[in-house]
Amino acid sequence: MEAAGAGRAGARGRPTRRARGDTDVTATAYVHGYSDRETRRLRDQADTLAALLHGDTAYPAGSRVLEAGCGVGAQTVHLVANSPGARFTAVDADGESLERARAKVAAEHPGAAVEWHHADLYDLPFPEASFDHVFVCFVLEHLREPERALRALRRLLRPSGTVTVIEGDHGSAVLHPDGPHARAVIDCQVRLQAEAGGDALIGRRLQPLLSAAGYADVRVRPRTVYADRTRPRLVEGFTRRTFIPVFEEAGRDAPALGLVTEDDWRRGIAELYRTAEDGGTLHYTFFKATAVNPPGPVG
Ligand SMILES: C[S@@+](CC[C@H](N)C(=O)[O-])C[C@H]1O[C@@H](n2cnc3c(N)ncnc32)[C@H](O)[C@@H]1O
Repeated sequence: MEAAGAGRAGARGRPTRRARGDTDVTATAYVHGYSDRETRRLRDQADTLAALLHGDTAYPAGSRVLEAGCGVGAQTVHLVANSPGARFTAVDADGESLERARAKVAAEHPGAAVEWHHADLYDLPFPEASFDHVFVCFVLEHLREPERALRALRRLLRPSGTVTVIEGDHGSAVLHPDGPHARAVIDCQVRLQAEAGGDALIGRRLQPLLSAAGYADVRVRPRTVYADRTRPRLVEGFTRRTFIPVFEEAGRDAPALGLVTEDDWRRGIAELYRTAEDGGTLHYTFFKATAVNPPGPVG
């Protein structure tokens, strides 16, 4: 769940910069930024949702797997844990995140085979058909051109290789108690992300996006998180530490931009926290897609 490109959203992210050689990295800034708090949020998110999102993702020993947009390695540690014999290549446009990812994987899985590349996923420095599998999680939602990104990644897949994409969709949030200010805060975040060139509602678009990018056998399945007091681990790990911080952090810009008043924004955050209290509930749906690279040239 989480973006920002050039322009306004750059306020939170790092400026566009060159990643390697002459490659221009064009989508490094994003609305969630690259703070220590966001690093913790990404890791809480990945750890809390690991069984839900990764339970059925395992790559054969020896297979070559590209993780595009690995960030701070929050998903990478789960990928290598589930597929100890696979050979991973992890790339990200943000060099500091990549260093954090490298340190985390070295600490937790010292024997893991992971190569790290600071690069733009639209223009990766690998020959065609270099990989058997591609994995992309919470990245497309931040991109101006997700279909082009999927097409670029398809070029790197061998024929019959697979892609796995996981994204959220803020339109799927069902809150109890519901509240008008909480809704306004979620809507603000959706608008901020859209202004930054991303799409916080992208989960529902995965099937058409993958098909348009030329993939075959596209299968998308919802992965639902439901948290109430009987599931304290999810209330803490998801509602409090993953879901609400998205709106707390990125939404701080909303009053300054005139999207909502400061008071209404505070009320909205308070209403979101009510879903984590006794009697409160939260439902949110992620979408996990798998698809195959059919034989033939990528258009
Ligand atoms: C929300 S984070 C997700 C990180 C990780 N996949 C996870 O789930 O924890 C999105 C990541 O995508 C990276 N990113 C955005 N645009 C990119 C691009 N054009 N090329 C490579 N990485 C990009 C950002 O730097 C950021 O680390």
